[in-house]
Amino acid sequence: MKPSPEARAEDLRAQIDEANYRYYVLDDPAITDAEFDALLRELIDLENEHPNLRTPDSPTQRVGAPPSERFAPYRHERPMLSLANAFDASELRAFDERVRKLAGAPVSYVCELKIDGLAIAVDYRNGVLERGGTRGDGSTGEDVTPNLRTVRTIPLKLRSPHPPFVEVRGEVYLRKSDFEKLNARREAEGLPAFANPRNAASGGVRQLDPALTAERRLSFFAYAIAGDVEGVRTQSEVLALLRRLGFRVNDHIEPAATIDDVIAFCARWEERRDELDYEIDGVVVKVDDLSTQERLGAVARDPRWATAFKFKPREARTKLRDIVITVGRTGTLNPNAVLDPVQIGGVTVRNATLHNAEYIASNDIRIGDTVLVTRAGDVIPRVVGPILAERTGRERIFTMPDVCPVCGSAVDHPEGEAMSRCTNAACPAQVVERVRHFASRGAMDIEGLGDVMAEQLTQLELVRDIADIYALDAKKLATVPRMGEKSIAKLLDAIEGSKARGLARVLTGLGIRFVGEQTAAILASDFGSIDALETADEAALQTSEGIGPEVAKSVRLFFDQRSNVKMIERLRRSGVVMEATTPRRAAAGRFTGKTFVLTGTLANLTRDEASALIEAQGGKVTGSVSKKTDYVIAGDAAGSKLAKAQEFGVTVLDEAGLRALLEA
Ligand code: IVH
Repeated sequence: MKPSPEARAEDLRAQIDEANYRYYVLDDPAITDAEFDALLRELIDLENEHPNLRTPDSPTQRVGAPPSERFAPYRHERPMLSLANAFDASELRAFDERVRKLAGAPVSYVCELKIDGLAIAVDYRNGVLERGGTRGDGSTGEDVTPNLRTVRTIPLKLRSPHPPFVEVRGEVYLRKSDFEKLNARREAEGLPAFANPRNAASGGVRQLDPALTAERRLSFFAYAIAGDVEGVRTQSEVLALLRRLGFRVNDHIEPAATIDDVIAFCARWEERRDELDYEIDGVVVKVDDLSTQERLGAVARDPRWATAFKFKPREARTKLRDIVITVGRTGTLNPNAVLDPVQIGGVTVRNATLHNAEYIASNDIRIGDTVLVTRAGDVIPRVVGPILAERTGRERIFTMPDVCPVCGSAVDHPEGEAMSRCTNAACPAQVVERVRHFASRGAMDIEGLGDVMAEQLTQLELVRDIADIYALDAKKLATVPRMGEKSIAKLLDAIEGSKARGLARVLTGLGIRFVGEQTAAILASDFGSIDALETADEAALQTSEGIGPEVAKSVRLFFDQRSNVKMIERLRRSGVVMEATTPRRAAAGRFTGKTFVLTGTLANLTRDEASALIEAQGGKVTGSVSKKTDYVIAGDAAGSKLAKAQEFGVTVLDEAGLRALLEA
């Protein structure tokens, strides 16, 4: 039976209040933003249909939840409004129609990216930062002045000339690169990782100890001034003024004369959101002219002159059916979530990573839980955590097996390491992965030896290690199901052809820990032959560019293992070339045709070193950013080149990002 409108409204209010409380007070959201929006929207619609149901304490009548009691209150002179949402083009058109009808005059818009952080306000008296606070319920937030002072992109002093008093509003957020670093640090310290940059930013702003806020390295984009400023007539002028006063204003701001331009802007940025170093969850569309804004006013919590176009959500909740283990190339036991299929941002997700046993335990994830799953860009989907309100008590706690699920050998969990490992180097799961890696494109590039073939060869025990690949013949391959004469000949040809790829590719293929394509190319060109490498000690290895103690140790460890030396000997006897073939500068070529620009100071590489690494892969390093630039590598104190890159939508990477690209 359908509930009465009264009952439904009450139910919706209870759900929204609970969600608000968990989000704002506990910092532990139980539902996704999209789910929250849907609840609120249903309640708004219901109240519009039945105005008598609208109570003064309805969540539609205010923004967010009351501030928690940890901080002094920060009262907003003018309410800090929130925004109505538009979820598709037709809702944008409806917004435009309403606006034009009410304005009674031609209207033009400004499109801004909707930064996924937390809204704050900062007051400046006589150009000096006086106090700052969170939005809270829109009329009273939390006074977090000392914390905001630690945010470097919030100026402590405005540039002159400036108005005697301004209240600046904007979004505090965490850059993706800073978020990754923060989580890596936390993981190393045994602290639970943050689910997303926004949670980390929001928790950061609301720390009781400003030193802890400072550690988060928060950033700020300014986007509004509360109240009038003499001589400023449009939102575009507001943004220009903010920039002049010394604030960071987002670069991707565009005027839009028509709603079609707005729709195009929204579509473009939904497509390109992953190119940015910060999360955005939509586009904010604002009427440009401030007097028109004034005339349009607000209803309840939302201004009539602006709307938020929301991108398709990239998190969703679903059931965690099981946790299965796969064994990686180096023997790591990787726990994977088996999920009830769920749509996230247009992709069906069935599996997600759970990282390691510690992650599962510290997030209290249990088999049978309803869980929150996120997917960011092309990153593997990740289980964020359980939705505790959905617990039934029938969930099962997961334990890491103490024997390898593939080969039954003992599992080792070294003290202080997150990963458990199968101790058997001959474990079929590891062999499959090693063979697959050895034959892959960046290594020996053996066509026809992909996932399935690697699996079959291992299963039939035709291949027990890499060197066995070169002992395959037509007779052996004929025992592989569905292998005809033609495909056998082709595969043997490909195997034969791989022998001449040279030392760099062999080294890559061996899968030595920390030795990716780039490092392999350097070692190959510096040492020239596998014999020279085999006898080099750690100090000698470290004389090579970019080879640190960790890599050197790992290389040594590999060659110190007798089984590896024997295997290499067998490779040699099969005719695999173990000498460097090409000089480093013409190596690999994964960056062939790609243009890079370096800016700012990198922590561990000089400009020349970074250039050499890029050029070694066939990339070109140039001095200035244009639309044709593929990557900008930005270090500390990056300046106008970074701004240019953002303007052109060029992918910006930090040093870690460059490393990842080189080693990918
Ligand atoms: S304007 C009345 N501009 O989105 C105007 N908000 O759902 C309200 N946000 O509370 C704010 N980027 O936290 C505006 N460029 C932007 C924004 C932005 C992110 C956030 C802000 C606001 C929420 C509205």
